[in-house]
Amino acid sequence: MITALRGMKDIMPQKSGLYEQIIGVCEAVAKNYGYTLIKTPHLEQTTLFKRSVGESSDIVGKEMYQFIDKGENDVCLRPEGTAGVVRAFIESKLDRAGGVYRYFYHGSMFRYERPQKGRLREFHQFGVECFGESDVREDASVILMIAEILNRLQIKTTLKINSLGDADSMGLYRQKLVKFLEQNEAFICDDCKRRKALNPIRVLDCKNESCQEIYKNAPLMIENLGDEAAADFAKLQEILAKNGVSYEIDARLVRGLDYYCKTAFEFVSDEIGSQSAVAGGGRYDRLVEYLGGKASFGVGFAMGIERIMEILGERESKNARDGVYLCALDEQNVDFVFDLGIKLRKNFKTQISYKAKKLAKHLQDADKINTKIFLCIGENERKNGEIWYKNLENKDEKTIKIDEIFKIESL
Ligand code: HAM
Repeated sequence: MITALRGMKDIMPQKSGLYEQIIGVCEAVAKNYGYTLIKTPHLEQTTLFKRSVGESSDIVGKEMYQFIDKGENDVCLRPEGTAGVVRAFIESKLDRAGGVYRYFYHGSMFRYERPQKGRLREFHQFGVECFGESDVREDASVILMIAEILNRLQIKTTLKINSLGDADSMGLYRQKLVKFLEQNEAFICDDCKRRKALNPIRVLDCKNESCQEIYKNAPLMIENLGDEAAADFAKLQEILAKNGVSYEIDARLVRGLDYYCKTAFEFVSDEIGSQSAVAGGGRYDRLVEYLGGKASFGVGFAMGIERIMEILGERESKNARDGVYLCALDEQNVDFVFDLGIKLRKNFKTQISYKAKKLAKHLQDADKINTKIFLCIGENERKNGEIWYKNLENKDEKTIKIDEIFKIESL
């Protein structure tokens, strides 16, 4: 048997309704916030992610699905959505046009991580990116957007926020942190030594407990914010409080990607085990320029759809029946049923059986695919211009006139 690759999962019809429901809620909320769909390729030049997500990140360091294609191009399956959207924004010259642009996207992301509960190698994100807006009200808006999505889905989470400072304050802070790391070089792991050279602030994100012990005494960005970053962080908190969104300040929240500045945040759930982040994001004001565009502000988030599905899994109406199953008992009625089904399909989800079978067998088949309304015709019904009807949800059954089956919704 050929199986799916490790860490890659099918979303079968029992779950796909839930997937659609979550994306539907995300889209509706994002549109209310002024965001429009953007679709970018799954495959991009490897350099794009190296430069944006950053060499110090685990994603680039260890988890890229990277290969050389038949044209000798170094390419990579996207590990996240922001980089591709930024590339598309620059390539469309919108960075030069000025103005504010708001995009949302959803689809597969790929990270060669060690698979475990809540951690897949191909997973789905819903995300948004806003370009050209420096106002912290947009940072607050993207957080409020997630809060609204989670609220509509009735999911409880904890919001953690931090400020990574602006370019100036980050520079000064880096120096302090590097000094601290040099003093403690002997006690930190090899990954942190690498991070120290590439992006020191990422050491605070280290999963190694002995490193975390050391970092308890490390200087924190939040204590070193410049005036502007401090004022924005205060305003962000004010807006969240005013809108009833509770939050915790987590001064060690640095996020797993290198491109952030100022606002960084994560929504975590205690319902799904160790991989508890359901959404994360923040501001990335230098990324557009860094990828070769004209300096433009950026802020956004992404949400892990499988993690949301995991939380909602138990609540999902697994056996929600819908649609019509239309079938015949005798071979000579199959064409009649097919023609009728084609008409029904103009208004109803209709599964047509092309084979004449016994009633019990048809009922079994309809049940397997969770149909709600079962319509079956035999020789007698055909003669009388009638069809046998059964609602498989409430078990109602009767015979109805064939001309009336177009009213099935009210049956
Ligand atoms: P991220 O924190 O790397 O951010 O991913 C966002 C979300 O994707 C996570 O909170 C988690 O729910 C989900 N996720 C990440 N890795 C996996 C995995 N291996 N399996 C299942 N779910 C996973 C980003 O990707 C940024 N691009 C977010 C962003 C947008 N920042 C600004 N704009």
